[in-house]
Amino acid sequence: MRTPLVAGNWKMNGSHELTRDLLTGLEAGLDPADRAEIMVLPPFPYLTLARSLLVDSAIRLGAQDLSTRPDGAFTGDVSAAMLSDCGCSAVLVGHSERRTLHGETDEVVAEKFSAALAAGLLPILCVGETLEQREQGQTEAVVSRQLAAVLQSAGIAALAQAVVAYEPVWAIGTGRTATPLQAQEVHAAIRAQMSAEDATIGGQVRVLYGGSVKADNAAEIFAQQDIDGGLIGGASLSAESFLAIYRAANQSF
Ligand code: 13P
Repeated sequence: MRTPLVAGNWKMNGSHELTRDLLTGLEAGLDPADRAEIMVLPPFPYLTLARSLLVDSAIRLGAQDLSTRPDGAFTGDVSAAMLSDCGCSAVLVGHSERRTLHGETDEVVAEKFSAALAAGLLPILCVGETLEQREQGQTEAVVSRQLAAVLQSAGIAALAQAVVAYEPVWAIGTGRTATPLQAQEVHAAIRAQMSAEDATIGGQVRVLYGGSVKADNAAEIFAQQDIDGGLIGGASLSAESFLAIYRAANQSF
């Protein structure tokens, strides 16, 4: 049984005030009976405040990006060890906004994945196709290529300590979500690709869906066989909607 995970990617949103209000609100809404995992991914400047608010909390802390390098003269970059030092136990790698806006290639993403693992962080590897690629029937080829870059460099055993997030680029922030079946199809292909290398690991790795997940569509998405929770953008900025999505994940066991 894979434990569902609901992770909130705040992207470049927030402030000290929002961090305090949101985390206090989330904490107040948790139920001791909850079995799904919950995680927040604030921007770098708010990680230490988040850590101080989440002492003894069930809410895990993660970051949105990291450097491929361990330390040195890399102005503006943040290393995996720094994230760990700031209380993070996870980090996104290869989010489509990084791939598109910062030119991150599959190779760079694979390096980031390994840098995260080496520091003991859980990498959440994001993959997904653009609208143009979907319309040209390239969805599975694109996602498979993105996953293969990490499989080739880190190996299937490394995936056992990671999470994959399928985020169709055309569904991110657009209000246009993939249908549960469209998402399930790609999730099944991702799992099959991992299972072809190691059936046990392929069956264990959590594959999250991301892209316009909201309180009112989460339950039907999470009900799909190969969907193990969600990576939530906009709806993670309100405690009420993020908790409603988290509730849906708890009911999807
Ligand atoms: P939205 O939920 O705002 O569509 O964002 C999804 C996403 O990119 C999460 O990483």
